[in-house]
Amino acid sequence: MVMFTVTRKETSPFEGQKPGTSGLRKKVTLFKQPNYLHNFVQSTFDALSAGKVTGATIVVSGDGRYFSKDAIQVIIKMAAANGVRRIWVGQNGLLSTPAVSAVIRERVGADGSKATGAFILTASHNPGGPHEDFGIKYNMENGGPAPEAITDKIFANTKIIKEYLIAEDLPDVDISVLGVSSFGGPEGPFDVEVFDSTSDYVTLMKTIFDFKSIQKLLACPKFTFCYDALHGVAGIYAKHIFVEELGANESSLINCTPKEDFGGGHPDPNLTYAKELVARMGLGKSGPQGEPPEFGAAADGDADRNMILGKRFFVTPSDSVAIIAANAVQAIPYFTSGLKGVARSMPTSAALDIVAKNLNLKFFEVPTGWKFFGNLMDAGLCSICGEESFGTGSDHIREKDGIWAVLAWLSILAYRNKDKLDGEKLVMVEDIVLQHWATYGRHYYTRYDYENVDAGAAKELMEHLVNLQSSLPDVNKIIREVRPNVSNVVQADEFEYKDPVDDSISKHQGIRYLFEDGSRLVFRLSGTGSEGATIRVYIEQYEKDPMKTGRDSQEALAPLVGVALKLSKMQEFTGRSAPTVIT
Ligand code: G6P
Ligand code: ZN
Repeated sequence: MVMFTVTRKETSPFEGQKPGTSGLRKKVTLFKQPNYLHNFVQSTFDALSAGKVTGATIVVSGDGRYFSKDAIQVIIKMAAANGVRRIWVGQNGLLSTPAVSAVIRERVGADGSKATGAFILTASHNPGGPHEDFGIKYNMENGGPAPEAITDKIFANTKIIKEYLIAEDLPDVDISVLGVSSFGGPEGPFDVEVFDSTSDYVTLMKTIFDFKSIQKLLACPKFTFCYDALHGVAGIYAKHIFVEELGANESSLINCTPKEDFGGGHPDPNLTYAKELVARMGLGKSGPQGEPPEFGAAADGDADRNMILGKRFFVTPSDSVAIIAANAVQAIPYFTSGLKGVARSMPTSAALDIVAKNLNLKFFEVPTGWKFFGNLMDAGLCSICGEESFGTGSDHIREKDGIWAVLAWLSILAYRNKDKLDGEKLVMVEDIVLQHWATYGRHYYTRYDYENVDAGAAKELMEHLVNLQSSLPDVNKIIREVRPNVSNVVQADEFEYKDPVDDSISKHQGIRYLFEDGSRLVFRLSGTGSEGATIRVYIEQYEKDPMKTGRDSQEALAPLVGVALKLSKMQEFTGRSAPTVIT
């Protein structure tokens, strides 16, 4: 057996290693500085209780972006030196964020071992490559991101760190080959197990969905399908699940080979960045090359986000979660016995609220960030949840889950078509959405993003909006001047949330303007960017009249958009005459 020794290396703090809820995300060039990653990893070990490190089993993997392979070797050597008993690595260092959550919760080692946490190496939907982003976050025993108490401790540690422990003489482990490498250190044995990246996750999906019924749908020639992984880690799960398990044609997968730089693209599944899929689905500017598929979907780099499309049809993420919730009990075996509750983030449209009301379900509106759902799920209060930011999921894990969302939609389609597969016409994505609007009304919805705005200017704009809230007559006067037909603002505030589980209070979670007719304008600064500030404007209008639910959404929302830009003095503060991205 190869033996290793432990070295204490002197180091000094780096500024700015504050992990957000999605971990520490920075440019690769920063991460490559000597000791930068080491400091963060040691600070994390030091923030965990001893039992979660000494003798523990920890997972290390991610979306495969540039610098992941180097980072994995560093983390293995530091884990060995810190007394970790065993490291589990997905083959080639690949595990989607939802798969990590599933592995923590479900995987049992040959000797009965269970993981107590995971380092996830990803910057999610941010581009990758030598000049782009890298990221690292720690997830806990429940499979969800570390709570603020831990991330605060990590940050505090990064500010005073003086040394870290590392097994410098531990040889690099070949993470491309499945199997266990065993080593011996001063504290005893240390193993690195490289395991199959997809099998635990696929096993879990099979306990949730009826794969046979989805297989039948995919085998029907009238149902055509396309999945775009944007060169992220979702590709390996797509191959295993859609092709090998469900029988989809290999040609229905695009960009499904993970690449360190995501092929130079921006791995974010929306109408702007998922260009190839959008064109295939007949939604692109250039028009389709042939008949578009009936169903299309995409994922982000680490496969926790999803976008659902029908033929020439976009499903807003806010509608998607509402539709999944409305159909789950009938269409998805995991939910047969009913939903414990549903939840959405504040800026997400109120489509889910109406479903909850109609189905008499517990309902929660939480601040942006998946951790708020995790608390509800751990307390047994929530089964399905979603966000406007292309995140949808359930209590099967503690992360949002891009492939799960696709399987949920395929299940609904399979259920709606179970007696129709031999008939003339199938019920397709657009039909399901239109029926939903006919039953519940439609929430016209759009989001304007202003990326990489000067941070000072963004702060001033937000302060201006808060100040403006103190006088609703002034607000309504501005509205009358720009758009006389838009209804009055009846309430304006900054969203604040009291967590019903731990009573913690989260303040300043977005500025809201609520209109008499149920419309809403929400303004927030993004918490996930890595350069400058990103201002997000969320625009929503409810239409109950079935005769009026079929309009083009940008057209229907134009008056409210005009009001939003005027109220916020967007151009004055930012110098921008148009958003960077519209979703
Ligand atoms: C991550 C989180 C989501 C959240 C999103 C918001 O993806 O996991 O829960 O909705 O960030 O991002 P933003 O850039 O709007 O802060
Ligand atoms: Zn992601």
